[in-house]
Amino acid sequence: MKHLNIDVTKALRFINGSYEESNKGKITSAIRNLYASKGKGSNFMGWVNLPSSIGKMELLEIEETAKLLRSTIDVLVVIGIGGSYLGAKAVNSALSNNFSDFKQSGVKIVYAGHNISEDYLSDLISFLKDKSFGLCVISKSGTTTETALAFRLLKVLLEKKEGKEGARKKIIVITGKNKGTLRNLAERERYKVFTIAENIGGRYSILTPVGLLPIAIAGFDIRKLVEGASYMQKLVKESSYDNNPAAQYANIRNILLNNGYNIEILANFEPKLHYVSEWWKQLFGESEGKEGKGIFPASVCFTTDLHSMGQYIQEGRRELFETVISVSKPLNELYIPSSLDNFDDLNYLAGKRVCEVNKMAELGTQIAHVEGGVPNIRIELPELNECYLGELLYFFEIACGISGNILEVNPFNQPGVENYKVNMFALLDKPGFERKREEIIGGL
Ligand code: PA5
Repeated sequence: MKHLNIDVTKALRFINGSYEESNKGKITSAIRNLYASKGKGSNFMGWVNLPSSIGKMELLEIEETAKLLRSTIDVLVVIGIGGSYLGAKAVNSALSNNFSDFKQSGVKIVYAGHNISEDYLSDLISFLKDKSFGLCVISKSGTTTETALAFRLLKVLLEKKEGKEGARKKIIVITGKNKGTLRNLAERERYKVFTIAENIGGRYSILTPVGLLPIAIAGFDIRKLVEGASYMQKLVKESSYDNNPAAQYANIRNILLNNGYNIEILANFEPKLHYVSEWWKQLFGESEGKEGKGIFPASVCFTTDLHSMGQYIQEGRRELFETVISVSKPLNELYIPSSLDNFDDLNYLAGKRVCEVNKMAELGTQIAHVEGGVPNIRIELPELNECYLGELLYFFEIACGISGNILEVNPFNQPGVENYKVNMFALLDKPGFERKREEIIGGL
């Protein structure tokens, strides 16, 4: 059976080969630390062994809750921000049809709480008005403003439509164990609650109810997702460097960073992977970007962005490297027809599949970018399904944990995210922020 595969040969040529060799020991001990819950942030490593340790009862409870809710709604609003929505959005987008974003479940999934746009929220309220909808509100802290604000608006709408009793049956809360605003509210209102383990942070929570419930409600097979992640967990934990994709990825990107390549661009040739890139950017950006360190994570969707960012990648400042997610086999077959009068001069493509053209675009891009001075890492997925996505997501998570260890930062906190919040609270007159408000106003 095929699995995720990595090719780093077109990155290695940009660095001195001895670096790879000499770093192997560091990488192996970083992996050992992670699986032994040692190192910076060790109290947030609950996700490391999660794939193989998810309880059967937990999966069943998620599936049954999803089934019950699915039978009563047409639209589910997933309310959350950062790690509390990106994992579900990444998987649901990658597995859904490009033009009808729900599968056999018949439930359309939409997202809220990840911005504070009045127009977004107004449009959402109008969209929901004549629909039967449910709410899945996700916040580990239970205090995130964006999430709480969207939930307040949508709870009022749902209760107006269904009454308090009816609304209660269509609201699910996923939050941390500790008593916080959201947990208190959920207990008071007797909502169905799933608990996020204390030792798992938002961006590593895709295999908890945070990711699994919205994915199950969309109609996808969460057992297969977990199976794929478990395969990768075992592979990374037990394999030597040469057979270990996460070890190689973490090592090469780190050596590239030390050689001045401080921007990593995650590229794909499959538009459905757009939100996998968004999830990846959050994972690496929040985990590595601290203490003046880290690789800046950027992303592009090809061939679309070859006509925008392609120029910069080919000839701009030489400080970036590219990691391409390549999907071997599309789900569909589409052949290019021939034309009698060759009206568009495309007959040289007649009889070929569209994916052959896409593959040659991919190869042509790789050759051009490598020639242009951009190191290239290639991650190959056999196809887009739950199992391979599970492999991919865990692969990135563990590689990120290894990278954080090598960089000597705590990859599981995000202290810098607080700064904007404090200013926003002060500017909005939140009680307790009066002194900060004076300070800000004085400085304006
Ligand atoms: O990765 C993280 O921890 C963050 O991105 C959080 O997921 C995000 O800030 C949302 O936090 P919360 O779930 O507490 O609302």
